Amino acid sequence: MRTVKLGLLGVGVVGSAVAKAIEEGDGLTGRSGVRLELVKAAVRDLSKPRSVELGPDLVTTDPNEVVSLPEIDIVVEVMGGEDPAFDLISKALASGKHVVSANKEVLAKRGDELLATAAQHGTKLVYEASVGGGIPILNPISDDLLANRIDSIRAIINGTTNYILTRMSSEGAAYDDVLADAQRLGYAEADPTADVDGFDALYKIAILGRLAFGTSAAVDSIHREGIGRIDAKDFRYAEELGFTIKLIAAAQRNDGGLLLRVHPSLVPLDVPMASVNGALNMVEVEGDLVGPLWFQGPGAGPEPTASAVLGDVLRIARQPDSNGAEQSTTEPLEVAPMSGHRCQYYIRLTAADKPGVLALIAKVLGDASISIRSVIQMDADETAGQADLVIMTHSALEANMQEAVSRLRSLDVVIELDNLIRVESYSHSA
Ligand SMILES: NC(=O)c1ccc[n+]([C@@H]2O[C@H](COP(=O)([O-])OP(=O)(O)OC[C@H]3O[C@@H](n4cnc5c(N)ncnc54)[C@H](OP(=O)(O)O)[C@@H]3O)[C@@H](O)[C@H]2O)c1
Repeated sequence: MRTVKLGLLGVGVVGSAVAKAIEEGDGLTGRSGVRLELVKAAVRDLSKPRSVELGPDLVTTDPNEVVSLPEIDIVVEVMGGEDPAFDLISKALASGKHVVSANKEVLAKRGDELLATAAQHGTKLVYEASVGGGIPILNPISDDLLANRIDSIRAIINGTTNYILTRMSSEGAAYDDVLADAQRLGYAEADPTADVDGFDALYKIAILGRLAFGTSAAVDSIHREGIGRIDAKDFRYAEELGFTIKLIAAAQRNDGGLLLRVHPSLVPLDVPMASVNGALNMVEVEGDLVGPLWFQGPGAGPEPTASAVLGDVLRIARQPDSNGAEQSTTEPLEVAPMSGHRCQYYIRLTAADKPGVLALIAKVLGDASISIRSVIQMDADETAGQADLVIMTHSALEANMQEAVSRLRSLDVVIELDNLIRVESYSHSA
């Protein structure tokens, strides 16, 4: 049996699970017919307690040692972040080593450069674990769906935000309370920005956009909104209208090219995504031949992520000389502007509870070519003389909606425009 030698950059949540599976599985041959041997692992702090025991000769605080050891065949990068991961991956690829990474940030921001380095040196860079944790999604898009033109990818791709939104929905709880609880239970980081503001989902949709559509979008060109504005009321009102609310990351063809977007959306209760709850993830892929497919599972966690990392490692170990179906070879689509997006909208506003208000609001929307599908007056505060109005529109252009929103905000009768949430449309349901 052939032995393939690995170097590990990072022995944290994911790295520990990778090392443990190899050490405890006696080389983790799995069903692959190759044996893995961990040769060197880099960490920052040697004194930190870890869930895996590695001999002192195996561990170093110098990650450059891992990428320069000639005997190492594959480097597994699970340290995260852009620096020094970018330089280390580049160096490994340039010195003839294949790299398996779980690092969405470096792949979203610098993936083109890294893939070019790999191509130049005949090495492979694969990163299944960077999107959807344990869910196989990049390899199915690259390989199994190769006969398809991919038309749309929509995903619930951040477990932390899905956990928070699920609890808000089921308990009617406030965002701040659920976030604090999620932090206490370890579902959210002490600094939750990357998750709740949508950066993590944005990195993942950028990676999917490049892989499935050949489009390399600069991360700051992708429309991004987090979940901080969602209120328990929105869940209550959305449910009355037949929807729930999810943080959606999407990459879809439209007339302008490829539109990439990350924002909370109303999702109809009768589609598969509506019932993806807690920290689970789901990626919906629509190909022209296969139609819609749904990939669902654990989007994070040590063992599920190690499953994806080690799957990549064993695939390379088994076929080190294959090309490794990687990038899309289709003509890249232009990045389409968010202003060209079309969808229905949910508008929640606090308005003066008096005659003539609806006519004023309807005129602003009408002037912006937006037609109203329904208006419901929800909670009223008679003492304050105001009420919640929830307006559902027909499909409208984002540019028109943004114009209407700023004009609605300037109306005297609109006390607050509390939320504007886009509605996902589906030509299929389950
Ligand atoms: N956690 C998940 O469920 C999950 C799921 C999918 C993808 N990912 C991705 O996988 C990567 C790793 O995530 P993680 O959760 O395992 O992170 P983590 O627990 O913070 O582990 C990072 C590891 O890298 C080491 N490290 C960081 N900078 C280093 C440096 N400059 N030199 C040497 N070692 C360094 C750390 O050393 P010390 O231990 O000494 O601090 C630690 O062992 C990230 O890109 C993440 O986005 C994670």
